[in-house]
Order: sequence, then structure tokens, then C-alpha cells
Amino acid sequence: MDLELDGNTALCTAASSGLGLASATSFAREGANVAICGRTESNIEAAREQLQAAGDGGVVAVQADITDPDHISAFVEETVDEFGGLDHVVTSAGGPPSGTFEDMADRDWYQAYDLLVMSAVWTLRETRPHLEQSDAGTIVAITSRSVREVIDDLLLSNAVRRAVIGLVKTVSREFAPEIRTNAVLPGAHETARIEELIEDGVDRGEYDDYQAGYEDKGAGVPLGRIGEPRELGDVVAFLSSGRASYVNGVSLPIDGGSMRS
Ligand SMILES: NC(=O)c1ccc[n+]([C@@H]2O[C@H](COP(=O)([O-])OP(=O)(O)OC[C@H]3O[C@@H](n4cnc5c(N)ncnc54)[C@H](OP(=O)(O)O)[C@@H]3O)[C@@H](O)[C@H]2O)c1
Repeated sequence: MDLELDGNTALCTAASSGLGLASATSFAREGANVAICGRTESNIEAAREQLQAAGDGGVVAVQADITDPDHISAFVEETVDEFGGLDHVVTSAGGPPSGTFEDMADRDWYQAYDLLVMSAVWTLRETRPHLEQSDAGTIVAITSRSVREVIDDLLLSNAVRRAVIGLVKTVSREFAPEIRTNAVLPGAHETARIEELIEDGVDRGEYDDYQAGYEDKGAGVPLGRIGEPRELGDVVAFLSSGRASYVNGVSLPIDGGSMRS
């Protein structure tokens, strides 16, 4: 299926690796221009090479911290200067620290709020005027299955991410019909984040070793395995394309069928 994204421009936050990069790569394969950001220079350069190899569109890859609104503003400005506009936005972020209620100080709550919620607010505020100029404007927020079913030892993800779903659902009404807004809810996908969570589980004594943790993450999945990042990125590109032109305000699990609700 041709997603007809050729020549469009997609901006993906926190996308120098993992699910954000997988989404940008899916856009690039379709011939879109892509813009990504992250904090670590070496990851940004590796991502730039991956994106340039994936397609014929242009690539902007910049160092920006999404917990700083000025960085987001500069990232959006550089993208629009380079490509002359913006058609698609994908918000991703790093993951908040794992832990229980007892583990979290006020500072952790506020940092998670900035990372997960305010980064999306600032990105939408900066990009909305450009998306309204497009005849294909879309937003997809990458969140987590934790917004539907809480995950043990991930209090901050369980609690704070739900605000992103409230944001997405609300702006899917306020920004329409010019802009469609949706969310995707990843289950376990093979990225640095899932490695970090398995290692945390080993440290807490939940798993004997990394392999045991890895197998556990795939065990409850009806499809019998952890997802490939590309399996999320391709859905993000589809939701952003005209092929999904009547899809607005949904929160779509991409979890191999793990979710029971
Ligand atoms: N993978 C999964 O199985 C899974 C499942 C459910 C939910 N999620 C959530 O989905 C999101 C993406 O996960 P992922 O697996 O792609 O994680 P990842 O592989 O760890 O990638 C996170 C990306 O975000 C960047 N980043 C982190 N903090 C940033 C900041 N303050 N400013 C700019 N860039 C930042 C990282 O680069 P730098 O560190 O260099 O900045 C990296 O490129 C996370 O919120 C995660 O919790 C993931």
C-alpha cells in the first residue's frame, strides 16, 4: 500500500533511537522528509545515517532536550526553515524512572510531567500553526499501554502518561478538521528502554538474569514475542497518512494483543 507520504515532512521528537527513530524511518522509507532530535550527539549522527539510507527525502537531525521549550522551538524552526513547512508530528520521549510510590520524591513527579506531558504540550503549541497550513496535518503521540493497564513498578508511567491521552483526545476535537490527532500505546518493543526495564528487574531480584527478563516480557503476549520497533513505526506512518483519513482521537494499542481490556 502506498501511503502517499512522498514529499511530506514529518517531525519526530526524542527520535535518535527506539520507537521515535523507528517512526521517522518508516516516514523516510515512504519518501518523506524527516526531522528528529535527541540529546546525545553520537546517537543523533547514527540516526541521521540510518534515515538518509532509508529514503530519498531530506533529513534534519539536531541536538535538543524536549524538557526545554526553547530547544523545541528551535528544533521546529530549523525544520520549517529547511523543508518549508510541516505535515506530520510524532511525539515520543524518554521513559520515566521505574519504581513504586515509596521510591518517588516530588522532584521525580515533576520531572516525569515535564518529560512526558509538557514536552508534548510545547511541541503541539509550536507545530500547530504549521500543521494548519498543511492539507495533511497529523499528530501521533507515542505513549504506553500503561495508560490502560497499570504496569507494576512503573508508577510514573502509569500515572503521568494518562494526561497525554487527555491532551490527545481533547485536541483531536479542538484541532479538527485541519489536524487529525491520535495516540499509539506500545507494549514491549525491542529498544534500549525495554533493556533498561529488564535490567532494573534483574537489580530488584525479579528476574534471575537478563534472558529470564526478556522471556518474561514476551511471555504474556498472544503473538508470543516482543515487538520490533518497525512494527510500531509502520503503524505511526499509516495513522499519519491519508489512508487513515477518518481516524481521529483513537488510542491504538500496538502490543501483540497483550491488553485484555
Ligand atoms: N520500548 C518499549 O517497549 C516501550 C513500551 C511502552 C512505552 N514506551 C515508551 O515509549 C517512549 C519511547 O521509548 P523507546 O523504547 O523508543 O525508548 P529509547 O529506546 O530509550 O529511546 C528514547 C529516545 O528518546 C531520546 N530522549 C530521551 N530523553 C530525551 C530528552 N529529554 N530530550 C530529547 N530526547 C530525549 C533518547 O535519546 P537521548 O537519551 O540521547 O536524548 C532516545 O533517542 C518512552 O516514553 C517509553 O517509555 C516504550
